[in-house]
Amino acid sequence: MKKIAVVYRSKSGFTEKYAKWLNDSIGGDLLKGKETNIEDLLSYDVIIYGGGLYAGGINGLKLIKRNYERLRDKKLIVFGVGATPVRPEIYEEVKNRNLTKEQQDRVAFFLLRGGYDNNKLTFVDKILMQCMKIYLKSKKELNADERGMLNAYTHPVDFTDKKHIEPIINEVKKM
Ligand SMILES: Cc1cc2nc3c(=O)[nH]c(=O)nc-3n(C[C@H](O)[C@H](O)[C@H](O)COP(=O)(O)O)c2cc1C
Repeated sequence: MKKIAVVYRSKSGFTEKYAKWLNDSIGGDLLKGKETNIEDLLSYDVIIYGGGLYAGGINGLKLIKRNYERLRDKKLIVFGVGATPVRPEIYEEVKNRNLTKEQQDRVAFFLLRGGYDNNKLTFVDKILMQCMKIYLKSKKELNADERGMLNAYTHPVDFTDKKHIEPIINEVKKM
């Protein structure tokens, strides 16, 4: 039996929801990224790491990247959770931003759609998003994603769906 850890960092609960669904489906140990160190991970065969997307970066992924060499014999799965719709070009962009080419050969990468809830953000994130809002409002033309983002500032949106974790479960089953 493979020992599986599902580790996550989540600011407003979307990644946490996916991590819990995943863990319930595959029967691993659910670990909060903030409270986890590399030593905790060494006893696992499979490590699934999930984090929310913040300016294109996956929250807390440094836990895996900084210790990548020590995790060489592990099966690694990484998933990012963002507010924007998951399209092939966005998937590639986020993957290339977060993993080197060498890491991409070894790490199974997934991008899931989360949501947006301004009420659950920290003060700093609220300020950052306020700047983004001002920028978007100053634009002459907005695409559908940008219009959706502007709308989400006042109306929280949740695109999480249990079916989005199926490819990750299939990846685990393949092992
Ligand atoms: C400061 C900030 C930056 C963000 N940057 C991105 C981004 O680059 N791409 C994206 O798809 N979503 C972005 N989002 C939206 C979050 O990724 C989204 O709300 C996600 O579901 C958060 O997951 P979490 O609650 O598990 O942290 C951003 C949100 C904030 C507050």
